Formats: sequence, C-alpha cells, structure tokens
Amino acid sequence: MVDPTGRKANCVSVQVATGRASSLPWGLITTDAELIDRVSAGIEQVETLLEQAAHSEHPLIRESAGHLVAAGGKRFRPLLTLIAAEFGDPITPEVLSAACVVELTHMATLYHDDVMDEAPLRRGVQTANARWDNTIAILTGDFLFAKASQMLADLGPEAVRLQARTFERLVTGQIDECLEPGPGESAIDHYLGVLADKTGSLIATALRFGAELSGASPAVVDLLTRFGEVFGVAFQLADDVLDIAGDMEQSGKVPGTDLREGVPTLPTLYALESTDPESARLRELLSAPITDDDLVAETLDALRSHDAMDQARATARRYAEEARELLDALPDNPARAALFALCDQVHSRTV
Ligand code: IPE
Ligand code: IPE
Ligand code: MG
Ligand code: MG
Repeated sequence: MVDPTGRKANCVSVQVATGRASSLPWGLITTDAELIDRVSAGIEQVETLLEQAAHSEHPLIRESAGHLVAAGGKRFRPLLTLIAAEFGDPITPEVLSAACVVELTHMATLYHDDVMDEAPLRRGVQTANARWDNTIAILTGDFLFAKASQMLADLGPEAVRLQARTFERLVTGQIDECLEPGPGESAIDHYLGVLADKTGSLIATALRFGAELSGASPAVVDLLTRFGEVFGVAFQLADDVLDIAGDMEQSGKVPGTDLREGVPTLPTLYALESTDPESARLRELLSAPITDDDLVAETLDALRSHDAMDQARATARRYAEEARELLDALPDNPARAALFALCDQVHSRTV
C-alpha cells in the first residue's frame, strides 16, 4: 500500500489499480472522489510547507528538526484542519498554513514528550532524545514551535491568540499528568481532565482553524471545536490502550513506555481501582515505575487480559459517541460523513 503523500510510518490508506487513493489516510473513510482529491492535494502541500518549516541553515538543527518530519506520522491534525475547511471555502493558503502550524506544534510537543517519557522510539524511528540527547530534543521542539509561531504571525492576532491558549492548555495537561489529583478529585476524573488539556485542546484547535479560516459559519466553527475537544479524548484513550495492547509495528512506539515511566493511563487506573484478589500482583506492579524488562512484560501480559482494558475501551467508545452526536447538527456533506466514520474508527483502533 502506498500513501498518496509518500509518507512512511503509521499511515493507512488504500490505493486502487488506477493509482488513485480510494480513501483518505487514517480513518477518514470516504468514497467521495472530489473530497479525496482535494484533501490529498492539500496534504501534499502541507508536506511541502512542513519540509520548508523544518529547514535550517544550521546543519544539526536541520537534521534534528527534519528527523520526525521525515519519519512520517498520521498527519492527523492537518487532516482535520482540511476536513473542517470543507464546511467553508476549502483549502485557501491560510487553511494550508494553519494545517502546517498544528502539525508543527504537535511535533514540537512530541519532541518534548519523548524527553518526559524517556521514550526510545517514535514514528518507527529513534526519538531525538535517543538519537542525540535531551538538550537537542528539547531545543529542536522549541525550534519547531518558533517556526509555527512565524507562520501564525501571518494569520493574524486572533490565530496567534488561539494557538497561545491552546499551547497553554497542552502544557498544563502535560504538567498535570505528573501531579496527583486535587483534593476530592478522583484519579480517573483528574486523568480525563489531563487528556482534554494535553490532546483535546490541539485537536479542537486543528478543526477550529480549518472552519474559521475557510469562512464557515460561527455555529459550525463552534460545533467542530466542541467535536474536536471530545473526540481528542477518545483519540488519546485509544492511544493509551494501544500502549498496552498494540505492537511496535502498529504504533511506531515501544509498547509499555507509559508503564516504564509510571505515567498513569486509563487502563492502569482502572486496574488499580479493581479489588479482586487475583489482581493483587498487578496492582503491586503498577504502584511504581517498572524498569525491569521481565516485569514490564509480566505487567503487559496481566493488563492485556484484565477487565480494565475493556473498561478503558468502553470509555473511549463513550467519548467517541458523545463526539459523534455533535456532528448531527452539522450540514450534511461528505466531510461530515468522513467525521462520522472517524468516530467508528477510533474505537475499532483499540480492539
Ligand atoms: C501521538 O499523536 C500523541 C497523542 C496525542 C496520542 P499521534 O498518534 O497523532 O502521532 P503521529 O503524529 O501519528 O506520530
Ligand atoms: C501525548 O501523550 C503527548 C502530547 C499530547 C503532547 P503521550 O505521552 O501519551 O503520547 P505518546 O504515546 O508518547 O505518543
Ligand atoms: Mg509519550
Ligand atoms: Mg507523555
């Protein structure tokens, strides 16, 4: 299978005999040929913008910033920006710039996140922290964020404000993930709040940019933003399940990275809340970061067959359904149908 944009890792798309893609990448399933053509062409242009943005005269920065761009990824947030633009006048230069900005911001946070999580692999390649070191990884993330800010400046002060608010929430979520729940707050509520901030915020903004910059009506802008906020939590929950149930081939990341770091995820929180005596060993294992390879394997095995996984899948499904309901009020067009399909896809990703 060849992706229409030529990207390498983590992309799902189907190529038919004519050479034309029969669907959009990653779960945005549609048979509408015009939508496929427009969005595929848009993504190709975003790829060029990303390559330009990651370029630097400085040889080391050029290599470190180009590293994750070249490794691929789903380009899910720019895809959402382009889909949202279908509710207005699609794929203007401003929409393309915003699509590039959200992916650059996402990538900047991945460089930083991999330092926080001491992750060795991302998008099927070594992380920047593993390939170089933490300092290079952090500063490369900052470099990409600076490039995103330069592009944003051309989109005007409202866009800059939206991006700044989004980044504030994202960072707050990343910090809150490292903290205990507040007084009277359950671990699960705390965690779901973290996901809304660290992941829902940028996915909501990806859609908002697309809708706003294409001139969609304020009601549509609002609905798509709310959709992104809720869908983003389902998306992250699916990722959490995959960190336990998935394999390297599928995710491009090392399974169990969250366990090694002692980062809470919904399946581990549900397992910790369980009270059955058979799970006592699992609860003990989960009470601290697990560094020993054999213990990580034992924990992954125990979790995979634990009810906590189905509970986490059910919660992901609930968020996907809540997001889906918001779509009912949108104009009926092929982009809306693709978003409906996405809500089904995010859940099936976890099973
Ligand atoms: C990874 O995001 C971080 C999460 C919010 C789950 P993606 O799953 O979109 O990663 P890439 O961009 O495809 O690598
Ligand atoms: C997502 O968190 C990172 C951001 C939202 C910045 P995770 O740590 O769960 O994501 P992965 O699994 O490393 O992609
Ligand atoms: Mg991580
Ligand atoms: Mg993390």
